[in-house]
Amino acid sequence: MRSTVNHVLSVAQFERPFLFELFRRADQFAMLGCREAVGTAKGAIMATLFYEPSTRTRLSFETAMTRLGGAVISAEYAAATSSAAKGESIEDTARVVAGYADLLVIRHPEAGSVARAASVVDVPVINAGDGANEHPTQALIDLYTIWRELGRIDGLTIALVGDLRYGRAARSLARLLTQTVDTTVYLVAPPVTRMDARLIADLRTAGLQVEEADDLHAIAPRLDVLYQTRIQRERFTDPEAYTEACGHYVVDRELMRRLPSKAIVLHPLPRVGEIDPAVDDDPRAAYFRQARNGVALRMALIEWVLQRHLVEIVSSNGHLHR
Ligand code: NCD
Repeated sequence: MRSTVNHVLSVAQFERPFLFELFRRADQFAMLGCREAVGTAKGAIMATLFYEPSTRTRLSFETAMTRLGGAVISAEYAAATSSAAKGESIEDTARVVAGYADLLVIRHPEAGSVARAASVVDVPVINAGDGANEHPTQALIDLYTIWRELGRIDGLTIALVGDLRYGRAARSLARLLTQTVDTTVYLVAPPVTRMDARLIADLRTAGLQVEEADDLHAIAPRLDVLYQTRIQRERFTDPEAYTEACGHYVVDRELMRRLPSKAIVLHPLPRVGEIDPAVDDDPRAAYFRQARNGVALRMALIEWVLQRHLVEIVSSNGHLHR
């Protein structure tokens, strides 16, 4: 039973046809202001366990579940207020909460921890960010936003900017972009937060055209998407290295002048200085629309996860071996 549970742990599990299916369903929700009274999650309970700070991810997951007619239980500051503070392992916590809820959404500072928790439970687990490793649902939202804003996901030139070493959102998006066709990705990062050679090699093997670049101003006129990210201060052990990584690449009015009129600027948010608020009114600044898209996309994802789980339960003949 456990091995067949359909978790969402990495973007590597998504293939192109599924992406379009998901995007179209999200669009249906978005068109109705996410108010379609489908109630497909009615009677289901989603638990959110967040061992790291979050605004968008947790609240949009909770909004999505509520809009689908389901209910939410939440450990918002799980590191401090759950039994983790007493030394309980994430596996034990997950096991217990899986007895209360039909779906777990977990964020944790350690890479691989959410997969560990998933391996011991028989309800679906969604990875809401595990350390510097993955943030699959953010990447889905990012690609969905590109699809909505530009009408396509292929033939695009995309710059990933900022923290490509610790930034799980950018790293998951880079991996997800391997499902697109004819895509050029520019990696633009200060020396301390460059993407590791291994991931770059994987991306190239998967068919992405990947170029490292230093001069964001020089490549800006070629871009369809500028994906800016925050330097992940919480992942640095050396405060000097953090300071060194900051301030290299800022999206400001001058940079916007160099960006094509149909390009868009994305950011998973929160921002802390890497996008000048003076550009927020520019129609190409799509990051708040991107954040809003999180609800519709997560509605589509939760619905899909719960339905697949139901199918699993029925096809295992109603015998649950917990
Ligand atoms: C991102 C994260 O937590 O990885 N935020 C988010 O979920 N939208 C990016 C970040 O914190 O910089």
